[in-house]
Amino acid sequence: MDGRELVRTARLLSTATGLRALRSAWRVRRTDARGLPPRGPERARVPGDVIGAGPLPGGGEVRFARSSLRIQVSGGGTVFWGWDGAAPTPSYALAGKPPEPDPRAVLEPDTNGGWRVVAERVTVAVSREGAVELRTPGGAVLRRELPPRWWDPVGGGPARWSQRSEVPADARFFGLGGRASGPRLRGGTYRLWNTDPGGHFGPADDPLYLTMPVQFVVSDAGTHLAFHDNSWDGRVTLREGVEGGGSGHDLPGGSELRMTGGPLRCWVVIGTPARVLRGWTALTGAPAVPPSWALGPQHARWGFGSEREVRRVMAGYREHRLPLSVLHLDIDHYDRHRVFTVDRRRFPDLPGLARELRAEGVRLVSIVDPGVAAEPGEAVYESGRKIGPAGAFVRDAHGAEVRGVVWPGDCVYPDFTDPAVREWWGGHYAERLAQGFSGIWHDMNEPVSFAPFGDPTLPRSARHALEGRGGDHREAHNVYGLAMARAGHEALRRLRPDERPFLFSRSGWAGLQRYGGTWSGDVSTGWPGLRASLSLVLGLGLCGVPYSGPDVGGFDGSPSPELFLRWFQLGAWLPLFRTHSALDAGRREPWEFGPEVLAHARAALTERERLRPYFVTLAHLSGLSGAPYVRPLWWGAPEDRTLRDCEDAFLLGDAFLVAPVLDRGADRRAVRLPRGRWYDTATGRAYQGPGQVLLDAPLSRVPVLARAGAVVPVRNAPGEEGGQGGQGGGESVLEVWAPAPDRSGGGLVVRDPGDGWAPPRVEQYRSRWVDGAVRVERVTEEGAVTVSEGIRVRGHAPGH
Ligand code: NOJ
Repeated sequence: MDGRELVRTARLLSTATGLRALRSAWRVRRTDARGLPPRGPERARVPGDVIGAGPLPGGGEVRFARSSLRIQVSGGGTVFWGWDGAAPTPSYALAGKPPEPDPRAVLEPDTNGGWRVVAERVTVAVSREGAVELRTPGGAVLRRELPPRWWDPVGGGPARWSQRSEVPADARFFGLGGRASGPRLRGGTYRLWNTDPGGHFGPADDPLYLTMPVQFVVSDAGTHLAFHDNSWDGRVTLREGVEGGGSGHDLPGGSELRMTGGPLRCWVVIGTPARVLRGWTALTGAPAVPPSWALGPQHARWGFGSEREVRRVMAGYREHRLPLSVLHLDIDHYDRHRVFTVDRRRFPDLPGLARELRAEGVRLVSIVDPGVAAEPGEAVYESGRKIGPAGAFVRDAHGAEVRGVVWPGDCVYPDFTDPAVREWWGGHYAERLAQGFSGIWHDMNEPVSFAPFGDPTLPRSARHALEGRGGDHREAHNVYGLAMARAGHEALRRLRPDERPFLFSRSGWAGLQRYGGTWSGDVSTGWPGLRASLSLVLGLGLCGVPYSGPDVGGFDGSPSPELFLRWFQLGAWLPLFRTHSALDAGRREPWEFGPEVLAHARAALTERERLRPYFVTLAHLSGLSGAPYVRPLWWGAPEDRTLRDCEDAFLLGDAFLVAPVLDRGADRRAVRLPRGRWYDTATGRAYQGPGQVLLDAPLSRVPVLARAGAVVPVRNAPGEEGGQGGQGGGESVLEVWAPAPDRSGGGLVVRDPGDGWAPPRVEQYRSRWVDGAVRVERVTEEGAVTVSEGIRVRGHAPGH
């Protein structure tokens, strides 16, 4: 037992559920001892020598002495390969049918007895021993997968396997889902097994709630995303390369993937970062676009406890003139922590409260946990038992319901990998909507079963439907949260067909974005937790999940006023901007930290609301292209090595560079700038990139720079000039940051089409200097039209 586990054990055993959890952990152990035969003798295998090849649409099959490899290239630079007969489907990650093979890709013999598939954007070369190399049309090697190795159980059963890969020495790794230690992933081992770290985590904790076998790799040779479509438990060991300088002896970077079972198949998407995300989205689905109100400020707390307390908090927001868009109710509003119930003593009229809040422009969001109290007579439990021949709940290898322990005590777990169960579960969201909730927050869906020792989840031998294929928790665990998100999303669409659902989920897997977003989970209060918050959001965005954010202020304990404020100032620039904390944690309302913090928090909130039309634009653009709102600085310039190593700032869309303060006591900070002219939005001063500048970061704000030429839709403050038609409650204008002399700029704008399904219309704007003044033109198919109203120019005139 390591230190972390000891602390978990001690904490858990001191709680009321401790004894139950202890019993449950023993049960898990017993269940697996009976349900999973111990691994017997194994036989190691490698592909062996190549013996032939034949064409298939988009590529071909290369046969080896002891395996075969199928390669398929599809349009747009997406490559699939699978060993041992692995095909693209079935897959939980893919959005629909796999992409069409590229009919122009040809299989031909390569030098040294190997084979290669040549397509327009990529060449896939297979060596005679089974190494797979991806080359750009120019011949640069992006990635080389060495021949895999399997360990086949002699008596049959799933083989373990491992595969090593190489990437250029200058490559940097990102992604792997939500990792607290990023955004740049250093050499080391990362586990692929969704895990609740137990109430708090910092940068050193791994794995967390949402892992993904997705590597986003950036090197001089190009950018690619490699996705090993396999949901089993595994480990990725990354090794950053070493450049030999003048000696020419580079040590390549690389990774080793070790999986405990499941198929060996991989997708690689190649291109610029934007193209990669576009290709990834084409494969795994477009991000669900949250309704506009979910882009406003949100407040949560575990332990509001009563309607009175909710009203008290709301009064505080009103009294202190702080805008608020969403309030979340955690498990304490449930009756004895039971999902889909309400504690009527403390919340006698939830629909009434929801109406009251709604009249003030505030929506309610409800937490939903998967664990169902396993008690005869419990409505959800009883109705679940009637689903299908075996009931809705996960069973063990002998057909008995698997019991775990969560907040309500002994619980059973819906098997979301069964379509009938998803539908049954989704029906309960009608109750949530009837209570007045507008959105849903999925929690504890790794899934968690409290355990003082061992893995705090279901037994690995637990059975799952897996869409009718059948299998066990080893395969289903990592997609449990994803399948629950599907159940929730589809239910909300069914129940409220005219509105886009708002759903976010703690756990998930590749493809989660189709159903909603996520959040940090229980990030520890402290400066390292603040840094981890940014790392998570950036990493998840590169894995295709663009909507996320941390518990502002940290989940546990009490942040200092300074830390709270810096977290708030970071959160205000992230897609999900929500304060949240634990039952026993200090307060997180901005007025609890004194008048100075309150004033600065108000400024951050006001700016966030002013930029709501920009966030709406980013949300829709993300839905169209997969581009995350929050992007690493290298997004537009992956060839810039210094940007690849910059981890303390980010781009928000194309227009802004945000440099949060992540260190205690800092009142200025170094900011790395990509190429071009950038304006400090607070002072209007212009800076020229690439390079590094030192900027003031007083407590009142964090440095935010605007790209010269950017066109940004913003809300006009009441009474300000230049309004151009109402946008969801506020007049909207275009803020234009003066282009650099002799340069032009521009931006895309999506006007809020409402919270339904009206297709977003993308407007394209261009900015340039004409006769000493900044001109803005709307670019349409018919040509460019000068926009003369509703424009506000900021930044310097030429010559300044
Ligand atoms: C764990 C979640 O991460 C946290 O946000 C929530 O407050 C608690 N569960 C209680 O529901």
